[in-house]
Amino acid sequence: MFWMEYKTADVRCARRRLGALAMKPTCTFWFILLFGAGGLVLFIHLQEISEMVQLQAPGVKFRVASRQPVMKQLCTHSEESLRGNTGMGSRELDLSSARVTKRHRKLLLKNPPTVRALNSSTSSSWDRLSLIQEARKRLVKQVCAKYKSNAKRTVTPHHVSRIFVEDRYKLLYCEVPKAGCSNWKRVLMVLGGVASSTREIKHDAVHYGNHLKRLDSFDHQGIAWRLETYTKVLFVREPFERLVSAFRDKFENPNTYYHPVFGKPIISKYRANASLAALRTGTGVTFKEFMQYLLDVHRPVGMDIHWEHVNQLCSPCLLDYDFIGKFENIEEEANFLLQRTGAPANLTFPRFKDRHPQAARTSVHITEQYFAQLNASERQRAYDFYYMDYLMFNYSKPFTDLY
Ligand SMILES: *[C@@H]1O[C@H](CO)[C@@H](O)[C@H](O)[C@H]1NC(C)=O
Ligand SMILES: *[C@@H]1O[C@H](CO)[C@@H](O)[C@H](O)[C@H]1NC(C)=O
Ligand SMILES: *[C@@H]1O[C@H](CO)[C@@H](O)[C@H](O)[C@H]1NC(C)=O
Ligand SMILES: *[C@@H]1O[C@H](CO)[C@@H](O)[C@H](O)[C@H]1NC(C)=O
Ligand SMILES: *[C@@H]1O[C@H](CO)[C@@H](O)[C@H](O)[C@H]1NC(C)=O
Repeated sequence: MFWMEYKTADVRCARRRLGALAMKPTCTFWFILLFGAGGLVLFIHLQEISEMVQLQAPGVKFRVASRQPVMKQLCTHSEESLRGNTGMGSRELDLSSARVTKRHRKLLLKNPPTVRALNSSTSSSWDRLSLIQEARKRLVKQVCAKYKSNAKRTVTPHHVSRIFVEDRYKLLYCEVPKAGCSNWKRVLMVLGGVASSTREIKHDAVHYGNHLKRLDSFDHQGIAWRLETYTKVLFVREPFERLVSAFRDKFENPNTYYHPVFGKPIISKYRANASLAALRTGTGVTFKEFMQYLLDVHRPVGMDIHWEHVNQLCSPCLLDYDFIGKFENIEEEANFLLQRTGAPANLTFPRFKDRHPQAARTSVHITEQYFAQLNASERQRAYDFYYMDYLMFNYSKPFTDLY
């Protein structure tokens, strides 16, 4: 009975997550209601719940693994941070019966090139881009083999919760915020027939329109066969540039979610003599304060998808991506992928800048200016923090004094 209530709230909140702030009071209400009424029950009856669910869904093994009430994370954070919360392993779906095989999928190669691409200058650039893909995939495999234990090869819904599904063209795109994801979502919407051109899709429709399905919304077989047969796509970005881009977007512009939820605890922990206004609004976090928060082993508030490691967001060691693109060359690489996928010839990757179009795109130069505000040991710790992303995606050391 409690489980049913919980499921209902889960689904509602999940649906409303995309409705963002306007919907938050409703979710908060659900949270209060359910946590109040059911929180105790949850703790006491963890065992009964998991048994009951196993009975209700034979063959699908759910486990209530976390002692943290799930509703808290579902409803008090916006969808943006919620999805990125790494400790969210509350339901575990065992896919071992439909385990993803290791067989190398050459879907890209199976798709015949479209007619327009048959001229020699494009085909040589195709060869170049194909070779780059092979090298990137090989590197990810090597790094994974070296640093990651293969003990846990079970895909859970949490692992695929950031992956968007395009069933017509059989694409799975793992969303990495601040690495071209809004434009990728536009492309997926056009591929899916939601819109006829990327131009006509406004920013809010991209993020809150609820037009795209996530892979974790399917049952375990639906997840497993899509992982097996679709082209799995990941786009990454230089980690420090992505971080600075996230900081500028969320803290240097008015924001009704990031200032209260992250800004307030950051200012109150890391700023001596903070003004009452700063403590009350959470506005005006400096990059140094933000980095103190990020590198703190006892963060006053959790992580967020905008600064979470790609390794956490998209599980590249588990999911064996078919295409690993880079934001730095996103147009060429995305168009290459679209052609290979057989996308309509008039669909090319757009270059809209959604967030604060008046501000300059975060560049190498801008990133250096922000990191100049830190001392050497902070820069080193920041590099250590993103080390796996640097290594796995072959980004070079951003500053010469790092080791
Ligand atoms: C081949 O394609 C490229 C870019 O798509 C174009 O610039 C070039 O003119 C084309 N060459 C021929 C011979 O059609
Ligand atoms: C890593 O990037 C460098 C250029 O920055 C390139 O020369 C090298 O081949 C790349 N290594 C792999 C394994 O892709
Ligand atoms: C692309 O072509 C399709 C038909 O194949 C059409 O419906 C669509 O409007 C075109 N899009 C653009 C941006 O021209
Ligand atoms: C904080 O305020 C106290 C007293 O007003 C002052 O002595 C101290 O220097 C201030 N500290 C900082 C870091 O501004
Ligand atoms: C660097 O800044 C941090 C504050 O984030 C401080 O704790 C540390 O002592 C500083 N290190 C050096 C070498 O100045």
